Amino acid sequence: MKTILACITFSVLLLSCKTDTAVAQQTTLIEPEIEQKVEDLLSRMTLEEKVGQMNQYNGTWDVTGPPPTTGDNANKYEALASGKVGSMLNVLGAEATREAQEIAVEETRLGIPLIFGYDVIHGYKTIFPIPLGEAASWDLEAIKKNNTIAAKEAASAGIHWAFSPMMDVSRDARWGRVMEGAGEDPYLASKVAVARVQGLQGEDLSDLNTVAATAKHFAGYGFVVAGLDYNTTEINRNTLLNMVLPPFKAAVDAGVATVMNSFNDVNGIPVTGNAFLQRDILKGDWGFKGPILSDWNTIGEMTINGYAADLKDAAYKAATGGTDMDMETRGYEQHLVELVEEGKVDEALIDDAVRRILRVKFQLGLFEDPYRYSDSLRENQNTYTEENRAVAREAARKSIVLLKNKNDVLPLSKDLGSIAVIGDLADDKDTPIGSWRAQATANSAVSLLEGVKAAVNDGTEVHFAQGYTLAIGDRAFVNELTFADDDGSDIPEAVRLAQNSDAVIVAVGEEAFQSGEGRSQTDISLKGKQLELLQELKKVNDNVVVVLMNGRPIAEPWMYENMPSILETWHLGTEAGNGIADVIFGDYNPAGKLPVSIPRSVGQVPIYYNHVSTGRPNATPGQPEMVFWSHYTDEEKTPQYYFGHGLSYTTFEYDNLKLSKDSMKMGEAATVSVEVTNTGDRAGEEVVQLYIQDVAASTIRPVRELKGFEKLMFEAGETKTITFELNEEVLGFYGADETFKAEPGEFKIMVGGNATDVLTESFSLNEK
Ligand code: NOJ
Repeated sequence: MKTILACITFSVLLLSCKTDTAVAQQTTLIEPEIEQKVEDLLSRMTLEEKVGQMNQYNGTWDVTGPPPTTGDNANKYEALASGKVGSMLNVLGAEATREAQEIAVEETRLGIPLIFGYDVIHGYKTIFPIPLGEAASWDLEAIKKNNTIAAKEAASAGIHWAFSPMMDVSRDARWGRVMEGAGEDPYLASKVAVARVQGLQGEDLSDLNTVAATAKHFAGYGFVVAGLDYNTTEINRNTLLNMVLPPFKAAVDAGVATVMNSFNDVNGIPVTGNAFLQRDILKGDWGFKGPILSDWNTIGEMTINGYAADLKDAAYKAATGGTDMDMETRGYEQHLVELVEEGKVDEALIDDAVRRILRVKFQLGLFEDPYRYSDSLRENQNTYTEENRAVAREAARKSIVLLKNKNDVLPLSKDLGSIAVIGDLADDKDTPIGSWRAQATANSAVSLLEGVKAAVNDGTEVHFAQGYTLAIGDRAFVNELTFADDDGSDIPEAVRLAQNSDAVIVAVGEEAFQSGEGRSQTDISLKGKQLELLQELKKVNDNVVVVLMNGRPIAEPWMYENMPSILETWHLGTEAGNGIADVIFGDYNPAGKLPVSIPRSVGQVPIYYNHVSTGRPNATPGQPEMVFWSHYTDEEKTPQYYFGHGLSYTTFEYDNLKLSKDSMKMGEAATVSVEVTNTGDRAGEEVVQLYIQDVAASTIRPVRELKGFEKLMFEAGETKTITFELNEEVLGFYGADETFKAEPGEFKIMVGGNATDVLTESFSLNEK
């Protein structure tokens, strides 16, 4: 239904229209109406105006990339008035977005509104767990809800477009942006991507509480060689089709409004100029109708890559390669009109790009009312509310993975005489909000220390000791973090405290800016004196609870092998401390599962559960001393913890794996069921995971790959039967001929609570 707000374009009038009733009002246009309006507007645009729509400028409120050295950077507002700009990023707040919008709407010939984009990665002002942590919840409804709130907060502050979700499958813990995705599995990443898109976009983009989402970074960015950010990639076609692209396809099928491309090349061609990926696959095969936004300066960077001779050549290659909007290069602004006039770029390509951009603007309702999202009243009312924080707390505890709980150290009683809380990170109110913190206030998270103090009963004493010092100084955009020159002098005090306390909670890991964009590391172990501290604490107290706070998997074998109980808590956002305390004291029974493998050492990286089998996976039978098999001579080749691993305060038993039939013909379906019993004495959730292996196929297939999961609550003693369907979609893959299909032959069907502890059955798929 089309409902046009009465207060059309006059900002003065709008102020009085922006009441809560406005929230309910929509400006939904049906698709043919949008298409007609797009065509009508396009037919009235000059070439210069069209190219203006393809240009995105950075505001001055946030810096998320290096500013351009060419073009009109000095006076951005003049550029807006001359119609050179179709979109801005990093213009923040209702007032600032309204001010910029007024120029675009009132001073340009056609008054086409700007679309404002921003990195709303895991929240806007209320911060949710980092995306990797959020994925560890395997809770799609919760993920959707978090994103619904992030969208509402951002949209209330004038943002139309969130540059998320990142859906790059990543296997390399050295890469700082591993924190921003859903981990190493394309199936989980696809499900999570769809939940995030649905949460951000809702049912209707014109709803005042939703924003356009961005599937990024298309494609292959998670495979940067050696985990080095912005590096090249080596991705074969098999990996591209089966590992890299599926989350993007899932997001497109779920109606994601926009796509952002990536810094890397695929097969030697930078994605920004890669017509095969952008035109043939994304816009062609998948029928994607929205705009592809370049990543920051990726057009300009093609000249540095050595793929374009100069900026004009780069603009040519990007436009013909399918990139519709230029983020911060000014390559389109400076050269596209000329390229069309010279006959090098067909104007039809420009029209196609502009159609895509205008389409989103119409879908958002910006032509009916360009100021509808820029509303200070809503910005104040809707951001950082009690309600939003309650959801963030729920999200925080759902994201925690109990890695280890020897002798049931956890949960702790709230009535202990004394608890020692130790570690620089335990008292840190900033780190939990991470490096992609959008508009969160610095130091605004609930620290672990605060969470513990709030949770215990009156008689329990909580004492803090720093134990070590992690990083100091201004950390946000500096090249290297200054790890404090820690001489270990805080350790003795921490040890004394641990000695005299009934329980010890020690936080170790990474500080906020150790992971994220531009933050690759060659060493993924604990920095500074943290390990030494753990070793000293262990000597004096057996009940040490390690709380890991980190953006990437941490390789620290001594810790995993010797500390009795370990919680993986990532960077959990605004409510971190409360969420962790909920788990530590048993108010919440942890149910998170790892979305990535945790390596034993950086030398194992890249390590991922869904690898293919080598021809020599095991030692020669009867001759274990022989070296001729795929292994390391100085290290196990298995990870410290597998993908899918995560314990609970209760225990689960898997039994009775049953196939409805042990073979089926193409076109048929079968089911596999399993009985899962909560064998402990408290209620808990379990993520039941289905894996398959195609035993022999036209290309080698992973030894196991996730194909389904269900997260369910079990009362103590309760048994549930969980059933998964087996069909060609589940069994299929892109094989030697690069088409998606299931191939006849034998399959292993595996079900369990992680990737390795599974029950297995054989199943065969036959020709019709
Ligand atoms: C570069 C990042 O790669 C991308 O994810 C982000 O959206 C843009 N900068 C804008 O900040």
